[in-house]
Amino acid sequence: MRPSYGLYTLSLAAAIRSAASGADACPGYTATQVTTNGNTLTVALTLAGVPCNIYGSDIENLLLEVTYETDTRIHLKITDPTTARYEVPESVLPRPAANASTTPETAAIQFNYTASPFAFSIFRASTSEILFSTASYPLVFEPQYLRLKTSLPLDANIYGLGEHSENFRLPTVNLTRTLWSRDAYGVPNGTNLYGNHPIYYEHRVTGTHGVFFLNSNGMDIKINTTAEEGTTLEYNVIGGILDLYFLAGSETDPTEVARQYAEVVGTPAEVPYWSFGLHQCRFGYTDFVEVADVITNYSLANIPLETMWTDIDYMYNRRIFTIDPDYFPLTRMRQIIDYLHAHDQHYILMTDPAVAYAPGEGYGTYDRGSAADVWLKAANGSYFLGVVWPGVTVFPDWFNPSIQSFWTNEFQMFYNQETGLDIDGAWIDMNEPSSFCVVPCTDPFEQAREQDLPPPRTTVPPDPNAPIFVNSSKTDVASALQKRQNYSGENVLYPPYAIDNAAGALSNRTSYTNAVHANGLIEYNTHNLFGTMMSTATHNAMLSRRPGLRTLVVTRSTFSGAGKRVQKWLGDNFSDWEHYRNSIAGILNMASVFHVPMVGADVCGYAEDTTETLCARWAMLGAFYPFMRNHNDDTSISQEFYRWPTVAQAARNALSMRYRLLDYIYTAFHQDYLDGTPVLNPLWYKYPQDPSTFSIDLQFLYGPSILVSPVTDENATSVSIYFPHDTFYDFATLAPIQGNASYVEIENVDLTSIPVYIRSGAVLPLRVQGAMTTTALREQNFEFIIAPNSSGEAFGSLYVDDGVSITPNATTDVNMAYKNGILAVSGTFGHATGVNVSRVLLLDVYDAPQSVKLNGHGLSDATLYDATNKVLDVTVDLPFDDNFTLQIL
Ligand SMILES: *[C@@H]1O[C@H](CO)[C@@H](O)[C@H](O)[C@H]1NC(C)=O
Ligand SMILES: *[C@@H]1O[C@H](CO)[C@@H](O)[C@H](O)[C@H]1NC(C)=O
Ligand SMILES: *[C@@H]1O[C@H](CO)[C@@H](O)[C@H](O)[C@H]1NC(C)=O
Ligand SMILES: *[C@@H]1O[C@H](CO)[C@@H](O)[C@H](O)[C@H]1NC(C)=O
Ligand SMILES: *[C@@H]1O[C@H](CO)[C@@H](O)[C@H](O)[C@H]1NC(C)=O
Ligand SMILES: *[C@@H]1O[C@H](CO)[C@@H](O)[C@H](O)[C@H]1NC(C)=O
Ligand SMILES: *[C@@H]1O[C@H](CO)[C@@H](O)[C@H](O)[C@H]1NC(C)=O
Ligand SMILES: *[C@@H]1O[C@H](CO)[C@@H](O)[C@H](O)[C@H]1NC(C)=O
Ligand SMILES: *[C@@H]1O[C@H](CO)[C@@H](O)[C@H](O)[C@H]1NC(C)=O
Repeated sequence: MRPSYGLYTLSLAAAIRSAASGADACPGYTATQVTTNGNTLTVALTLAGVPCNIYGSDIENLLLEVTYETDTRIHLKITDPTTARYEVPESVLPRPAANASTTPETAAIQFNYTASPFAFSIFRASTSEILFSTASYPLVFEPQYLRLKTSLPLDANIYGLGEHSENFRLPTVNLTRTLWSRDAYGVPNGTNLYGNHPIYYEHRVTGTHGVFFLNSNGMDIKINTTAEEGTTLEYNVIGGILDLYFLAGSETDPTEVARQYAEVVGTPAEVPYWSFGLHQCRFGYTDFVEVADVITNYSLANIPLETMWTDIDYMYNRRIFTIDPDYFPLTRMRQIIDYLHAHDQHYILMTDPAVAYAPGEGYGTYDRGSAADVWLKAANGSYFLGVVWPGVTVFPDWFNPSIQSFWTNEFQMFYNQETGLDIDGAWIDMNEPSSFCVVPCTDPFEQAREQDLPPPRTTVPPDPNAPIFVNSSKTDVASALQKRQNYSGENVLYPPYAIDNAAGALSNRTSYTNAVHANGLIEYNTHNLFGTMMSTATHNAMLSRRPGLRTLVVTRSTFSGAGKRVQKWLGDNFSDWEHYRNSIAGILNMASVFHVPMVGADVCGYAEDTTETLCARWAMLGAFYPFMRNHNDDTSISQEFYRWPTVAQAARNALSMRYRLLDYIYTAFHQDYLDGTPVLNPLWYKYPQDPSTFSIDLQFLYGPSILVSPVTDENATSVSIYFPHDTFYDFATLAPIQGNASYVEIENVDLTSIPVYIRSGAVLPLRVQGAMTTTALREQNFEFIIAPNSSGEAFGSLYVDDGVSITPNATTDVNMAYKNGILAVSGTFGHATGVNVSRVLLLDVYDAPQSVKLNGHGLSDATLYDATNKVLDVTVDLPFDDNFTLQIL
């Protein structure tokens, strides 16, 4: 490919794009035959006039299929009946089964259409409210351009369509959300980022519904508001088919749509209990001595470090599955891992997808992958080459039938429990896939040289004996090429419609779009799946190392459904207040919309230098990310929490809250795994009738009932926070606060505290105190906090198991209900916790009680009443192994 040709095509596409409203002038289609078969409606569509050929030739005949799959889900597909087009493979995203007893009559949402010009709508059956309507926007269906556009309510409340770093409630004016996986340093808003989740939830006071567009091709989704059209949403897609799932959601409970989305893409995996502990990482730990020192220093500072990580620094010449013998010698690394394990701590190492291209150099991973022929191929059948950390690289082909055995074997060898590095979790990065080779990548060797990859080390190696812890089957390429002929007529390098990719050309700094997988699929179609497929392969590889145990695989790139196997960090943010603030929208997207709940941003920020105040505030906000990891760049100042006394104290305070709440959030994760109930909640999930909550993304609910409202501005010691009309309880004092649907200024929030409130109506299970490891935490007793609602009632649940098994053989599953002055704790107690319920705290109490009875027996001298904060403290001291009741009158 010649660069001049590429540039010409690009500018031509840009010129066409500037006339984008041209799609509205296209002829659209006419519905001709309509047939109904049970719960499926089939409609033949025929081009309704002179083709507009806006980015290719309009396809004359289309097939529309509408299936009422469940009472709350309609599946709508528009395909070309004469030519097979790419669809997201079932192997990557299995399709949900339809419920055979569903009929259009019983469905909560309905499909309607007009025949000429063809347009369709989806409406809520109970109210006839239209949720999606293509009326007046002709459908455009060309080989490399699909356009589908719906009108929306003015300034609609739209959430999702990530991965993005916009506000959680998406802007409705002039927004282009581009979906094309990209190594997005600095996670800039207004651009495409690492992963792709083409799902949105739309909220109205009349209900919440969802629309999932199952397509992995590059696309621009535009939301705009104009005087002529009001608010609209438009999909502009460069391949695949139109494949939509409409989810009815609910008229009253916004979280219902999340459960329905989970029915399509799956519920998230449960993660190990230990993974909720604090993680410490950085790029730029120079050698094993420094890694060991960090572990020691955390313990000296009394800050619970659960899991230590190491970035690519440990590798020899940045080659995956190798170790640098001078800086990170195997015996010393094994010593560190043994030390961590002996102290109930854990270890995680980075594995990138790209493998150094090293023929004849004796690099085992490269040689074994080449022998098994598992590398992604260029259009001419040779290995597709890019440039990543080790220099010139090949990339695993995740569709290759031999890839799983290759990848599992590499993990088994390198991360071997007996002879290698016995890691507890995996970290997979650069899997967009990222390449540093800019288009045209005709000489990757030259580009690697120019970029000095891999770079030489700049420190002297440590004394190898330095003391540490002193203080404490072959693919048929020909047939693959043959299958690829399908695409010969298409311009996959520079399609006529150029999506708004922030990296420029589609192939720039990533795999080429004409690179070919073993099954003949090309990256043009499957690019957005690369990270998720690597996630699955890595999950399986980790599972085979420790069969039956949950995995923790933290990835950068994800696609819809990824949460079933993988966990996620939000990528390379900056150490600044903007990124601190927008991390909340980031975790809300992943955990409450996309079902990738084990998520966090790099605490204290990744790139550039953090500050003491930022790191202190971030340590406390990060304690309410489901995944809490401090991580930074190799050129940034050190930012472990113990580096500043204020940050250390902030971290100790917040980690104590986090650890006390660990079983509460673990229970929320279990519920998400069971039925897709989100682990984090934006305020509007719980106050759907209160429009003031719809755009709030600087406050959120951790689990169902913990309202987190961090200080959000540099140097501020106060924060203005919104309290919906409800009662809240200050987590620190337990005193009630009556929310009044208004903002309240919280003053004197020093650098070691964070405003946290309990939402009324909850019974919270807490450990009585934190601990230095999650193993020690599990030996702490429980206490229950009853935070009554306006009817004097409260409810909660607690799930406990061994914390590691995928299928635990014993579980404890308890409900707590407080009504009419009686707390009833009941359920099953299969998993022996070995601890007591030491006390029950009842909040919002205005008089000392007259009588307190435990299981019907009066308790004397067991209560303390705090009249200032209205808290009654009842000592219970019962083994937590049976139902009990506590009556307080
Ligand atoms: C299938 O749909 C019927 C009719 O609406 C409903 O009663 C039944 O519970 C559904 N079954 C499942 C497994 O969801
Ligand atoms: C379906 O659409 C037609 C044509 O726009 C309209 O007349 C009819 O009322 C709609 N039906 C329902 C149930 O909304
Ligand atoms: C987008 O980023 C810019 C630059 O950091 C910032 O000024 C702006 O407020 C951000 N917008 C949103 C919606 O986050
Ligand atoms: C819309 O956004 C684009 C890209 O951010 C910007 O260049 C353009 O000026 C904006 N147009 C309007 C009308 O705001
Ligand atoms: C939004 O509409 C304005 C006015 O028509 C237009 O200039 C702008 O390009 C549109 N933006 C998007 C993202 O479609
Ligand atoms: C590729 O990305 C680089 C930035 O890394 C940019 O300078 C260049 O213009 C891009 N090239 C194309 C063809 O998009
Ligand atoms: C915060 O305080 C520091 C030190 O006084 C100052 O340099 C900085 O500009 C302040 N930041 C803001 C946003 O006011
Ligand atoms: C299952 O239960 C048995 C008996 O209680 C116990 O010995 C075994 O270790 C348990 N297995 C796991 C994986 O917890
Ligand atoms: C405990 O309560 C559960 C109901 O939640 C009940 O099924 C169980 O039988 C009770 N256990 C005992 C020992 O009464």
